[in-house]
Amino acid sequence: MSRIAYVNGRYRPRAVAAVSIDDRGYQFADGVYEVIEVRGAALVDEDAHFTRLRRSLAELRIAPPMEEAALRLVLREVIRRNRVVDGMAYMQVSRGVARRDHVFPAAGTRPALVVTAQAVDPMKGAIKAAAGIRVITMPDQRWKRPDIKSTSLLPNVLAKEEARARGAGEAWLLTADGNVSEGAASNAWIVDGERRVITHPADGSSILDGITRGTLARLIAEMGLMLEERAFSRDEAYRASEAFVTGATSLVLPVVAIDDRPVGDGRPGPVATALRAGFHGAAHHTPIG
Ligand code: PDD
Repeated sequence: MSRIAYVNGRYRPRAVAAVSIDDRGYQFADGVYEVIEVRGAALVDEDAHFTRLRRSLAELRIAPPMEEAALRLVLREVIRRNRVVDGMAYMQVSRGVARRDHVFPAAGTRPALVVTAQAVDPMKGAIKAAAGIRVITMPDQRWKRPDIKSTSLLPNVLAKEEARARGAGEAWLLTADGNVSEGAASNAWIVDGERRVITHPADGSSILDGITRGTLARLIAEMGLMLEERAFSRDEAYRASEAFVTGATSLVLPVVAIDDRPVGDGRPGPVATALRAGFHGAAHHTPIG
């Protein structure tokens, strides 16, 4: 079965789907994106992802590529055409196609839209979670608006590659004052000796306000655990009982080592494991139809 992508109004075989070399997403990374989990032929936390997409577009003054109701239909059609039951859907909107010039193109330039979907076997994530991942820490070299889910991901790419080269699954990014902001492609969490769950506040500018993070905050309250949204330092992370990361594709992934120091007893912790187990029960599922 050939995989299908939606590109600017057309469903095309993915192998030949293409955007213009003058797409501002290609020229300037002048665009935004969303990654949504597909689980049991339903979208996970669809509304929250669309709310964030609207916000990212508005912050960058990119017009919506189409009515949101139509975009939700396109998203479903791409998922259906690719027969994705479990996996992920991806939407990217750029400022459109225009001759290369840093300033915004003429008013009325249509934003460009790409939608793809791919199957991912949930067992793969389960196996990864059972083992836990190692993380490294690195300076946060991103621009000062990581709250916008922009396709400008060069510092994230470099951090993730450094992690991979050092045998780790994620890089935790350190602010100038030595605090962990978030991961290169996930939010960062620790659990202290009193079972308090701690993560950097989503203060509207310093981290991406993860959708998984928001759902998990609700679950933490439901489970009667204490959530502290505050900055934590690398040293505090080294001393934590547990650590984990969250994201639409990783869900809740236990961290078993930070910079080669074991977290707790060096195995996935009970809080992270329970939060992973409870995650889909706390999330909203809307059928693909
Ligand atoms: N990344 N922080 C960063 C920097 C991220 O890139 C992501 C997600 C998150 C978690 O957000 P959410 O829970 O909404 O997925 C936090 C996606 C999955 C990606 O870039 O592939």
